[in-house]
Amino acid sequence: MVKKLKFSSCGHLRSDLVKDLNFGKMKHCHTWVFHSFNGVLVIGPLLLLFLVAIGSGYFYNAYSFPEPIVHENENRTSNLSGKCNFFDGNWMPDESYPLYNASECPFAEQGFSCLANGREDKEYLKWRWKPRNCEIPRFDVHEILEKLRGKRVVFVGDSLSRTQWESMICILMTGVEDKKSVYEVKGRKITRQIRHLQVRFSSFNFTVEFYRSIFLVQPGAPPKRSPKRIKKALMLDKMDDISKEWIQSDILIFNTGHWWTPMKLFELGWYFQIDGKMKLGMTINGAFKQALATWKSWVEKKVNTDRTRVFFRTFEATHWSDESRDTCNVTRLPWSETNGKDENLFSDMIIDTLRNVSNPVTLLHVTPMGAYRSDAHVGTWSDNPLVPDCSHYCLPGVPDMWNELLFTFLFSDQQYQIY
Ligand SMILES: *[C@@H]1O[C@H](CO)[C@@H](O)[C@H](O)[C@H]1NC(C)=O
Ligand SMILES: *[C@@H]1O[C@H](CO)[C@@H](O)[C@H](O)[C@H]1NC(C)=O
Ligand SMILES: *[C@@H]1O[C@H](CO)[C@@H](O)[C@H](O)[C@H]1NC(C)=O
Ligand SMILES: *[C@@H]1O[C@H](CO)[C@@H](O)[C@H](O)[C@H]1NC(C)=O
Ligand SMILES: *[C@@H]1O[C@H](CO)[C@@H](O)[C@H](O)[C@H]1NC(C)=O
Ligand SMILES: *[C@@H]1O[C@H](CO)[C@@H](O)[C@H](O)[C@H]1NC(C)=O
Repeated sequence: MVKKLKFSSCGHLRSDLVKDLNFGKMKHCHTWVFHSFNGVLVIGPLLLLFLVAIGSGYFYNAYSFPEPIVHENENRTSNLSGKCNFFDGNWMPDESYPLYNASECPFAEQGFSCLANGREDKEYLKWRWKPRNCEIPRFDVHEILEKLRGKRVVFVGDSLSRTQWESMICILMTGVEDKKSVYEVKGRKITRQIRHLQVRFSSFNFTVEFYRSIFLVQPGAPPKRSPKRIKKALMLDKMDDISKEWIQSDILIFNTGHWWTPMKLFELGWYFQIDGKMKLGMTINGAFKQALATWKSWVEKKVNTDRTRVFFRTFEATHWSDESRDTCNVTRLPWSETNGKDENLFSDMIIDTLRNVSNPVTLLHVTPMGAYRSDAHVGTWSDNPLVPDCSHYCLPGVPDMWNELLFTFLFSDQQYQIY
């Protein structure tokens, strides 16, 4: 079932970011529509990006990026009258990567620093995501730092969100001379369980924060006289208690998915609850959908999207060799095919939910791009080589590309919305 929808993109320019970023003078708004994932995705104004890009020498010449916009027949240029799905593309070898050295970034946790943990092959560091019909513009870190001045960036979700948070800090730190001017405000160390981390770029007066909220909804004690096997109740109709701390932000990026497995729920005695009642027969897919509905009404009621740009990342592809997640064969090169990993039920549910959210939310559909990257996982090059890891990605690596996309959407006001 395909519905065609259009909307005028100009109305969606975020007023405060727009003002700060001098986007006010941009008048041209292009709207176009394309079909994907059995549905409709609507992209907003790309033109803005290119005007800004031209005006500011945005394009880095490593790929000899052609002159943008109206140059007809340029196949490496985003075709503004055509279509660009940023999430449909492939990985191209690119010697200008990686973007930073994790050993020199105090916020890349040891568990993700594959080179430091003994990984010897290095090809995995040198790939760039290339959307089929356009390019992701190379960002200028100094410009991004200026644009973030005075802002609050908040990542919420599981450890994959923590990876993107670390990646963003490491990328941004390459543009900061005095590395000591970037610090965690309470001197906290990164650990797996930590609920909140807040890194301040003091010379630029902004923070990049991470809140651990693996389900986005609130866990609690099960009702009295519940069967013994029930240790925790995951309240699908209640947002995580700490969600009130996410609201006053400028950029808010969510994910969830990796903990919604029988092993991490039922086998540990976690069951679902709605309206105070345990729902023991409820499937994980059904529960995931409920939790997203709760998230949706929270965003609609609580988040002021005139101030806050909201993003939701889809499921980050894993490459386990077996169902039980014991075997992880990290390859030297990316797969040439997605082998079906570009499709994910959680991602589909996220897309369906975002399509219905009444205020603007931007999709970061990272599932397809990750699907190829069987080479990019932590594998045994983590802080615990005895436990292979085909879920997390090495840093530098794939999460850097998520941030490049984020920068593209943020600072070029490219909308990729679903209704
Ligand atoms: C542009 O398109 C032409 C003709 O289709 C092709 O030969 C050329 O390799 C393309 N260039 C790039 C950079 O993709
Ligand atoms: C842009 O894309 C559209 C649709 O794919 C195509 O018809 C058109 O010729 C393209 N224009 C340019 C300038 O390449
Ligand atoms: C990264 O930095 C470390 C420490 O400064 C250095 O020993 C190493 O050679 C660097 N790695 C790369 C790939 O540049
Ligand atoms: C830092 O940013 C905050 C929040 O945007 C703002 O209120 C404050 O005035 C800024 N401080 C400086 C010194 O620019
Ligand atoms: C791991 O993947 C490589 C490349 O795809 C393949 O040649 C090899 O047989 C695989 N090893 C195992 C143990 O599955
Ligand atoms: C989205 O809205 C449509 C129409 O109201 C409804 O049929 C559908 O179930 C909704 N989907 C989700 C995921 O909320």
